Amino acid sequence: MRFEEFLKTGVAIVGGGPAGLLLSQRLHLEGVENVVLECQSREHVLSRIRAGVLEWGSVEVLRDSDVGGRMDTDGQVHDGADIVWSGEHRLTIDTKKYADRPMMAYGQTNITEDLYAARDAMGGVVINEADEVTLRDIDTHHPSVGYTKNGERIRIDCEFIAGCDGFHGVSRQAIPAAKRQEFEKEYPFGWLGILSETPPLPDLIYANSERGFALCSMRNPMLSRYYIQCKLETKLDEWPDDRFWEELKLRFPKDIADAIVTGPSIEKSIAPLRSFVSEPMSYGRLFLAGDAAHIVPPTGAKGINLAISDVFYLSRALVAQIKRGDERYLLSYSDMALRRVWGAARFSWWLTGLLHRFPQQVPFDLRAQEQELSYLASSDTGMRSLCEQYAGLPFEDLG
Ligand code: APR
Ligand code: PHB
Repeated sequence: MRFEEFLKTGVAIVGGGPAGLLLSQRLHLEGVENVVLECQSREHVLSRIRAGVLEWGSVEVLRDSDVGGRMDTDGQVHDGADIVWSGEHRLTIDTKKYADRPMMAYGQTNITEDLYAARDAMGGVVINEADEVTLRDIDTHHPSVGYTKNGERIRIDCEFIAGCDGFHGVSRQAIPAAKRQEFEKEYPFGWLGILSETPPLPDLIYANSERGFALCSMRNPMLSRYYIQCKLETKLDEWPDDRFWEELKLRFPKDIADAIVTGPSIEKSIAPLRSFVSEPMSYGRLFLAGDAAHIVPPTGAKGINLAISDVFYLSRALVAQIKRGDERYLLSYSDMALRRVWGAARFSWWLTGLLHRFPQQVPFDLRAQEQELSYLASSDTGMRSLCEQYAGLPFEDLG
């Protein structure tokens, strides 16, 4: 190992997923120097398939970050989604009607590609394959991050550290355990998802069926995304494409099942469902954003939207502090971000409960689920509440 080499920057960003890259982009646009440290290769980061529905607030933040070009041409603007249950009943989550804003279907993989392209175009510093990232002196005025690249150990002295390194990252763990409180909930099932180069249905459709939850979603006019609820112990090789399509169709009413265009899958994966929130989202000069601080189950696609809203708050706060010496936003970052996080954590937990079949459910629970869906379908008040949350709550400012 060679001697440590020293670099200096304003904000050291740990993690080059959507949260870290978007923060880097927004800080750079405001003239705040930053460096992103990502432990994986760029190819690896860009190969991950994740959710793909954006709240309008997220669309506006991406546009405002100069990364909205391809999203605005390729993204599918839609007024919400449908829910079907008991094989016949339907409701439309019409966010345009009840919350006055549409949604945008645009894959997280594309967002990450757009962010990498924008960082390259502006000469942003993103160091991929940065190994053994460590955070030091986060509770002092002189924090630093260290990493190893090509056998060389490098230290970056900085003013602030942004922990954007996802659920399995090191940043959250750098906060002493005694100063953190973690809230967690696991669900007794997962989602088996496929991507296929087939035309999607025109609308996003969620199903609560007696065989379990299912979802028809989209990426672009020739790329579809489908999910079915599965047991946690499910193995991918038990699910050849034919079996997947057959099971998917059994979970939808016949007219919808008949309209699903099947084809070979180009990706297939299983994701367990988890809710997790770690409080607070800051400690000393370390600020967490995105999955580093919270995980939501994918029902409602809130994960990417929360990463974007955290970054909106954090970039505003860091810019106010570094450029104007105004510390008020940074001091309130954790509380403000957590209010929005808990809104989405509660909503995605509730929507998961409404749409899935749980192993321990008794007939009473099933009737209650049906009743709640029927109530929503028949009540303007219920629909307004559902749509307001599905479409995403507004961003806050200081009072
Ligand atoms: N050092 C450097 N980078 C790290 C480390 C580490 N020790 N550990 C993890 N990383 C990187 C990961 O390789 C990943 O690229 O941090 C990045 C975190 O990215 P994401 O997991 O995508 O999290 P985030 O940017 O917060 O985006 C949240 O991703 O999981 C979805 O549904 C979620 O849509 C949401 C979005
Ligand atoms: C997706 O397209 O991956 C998706 C869409 C809506 C959700 C969850 C995931 O609620």
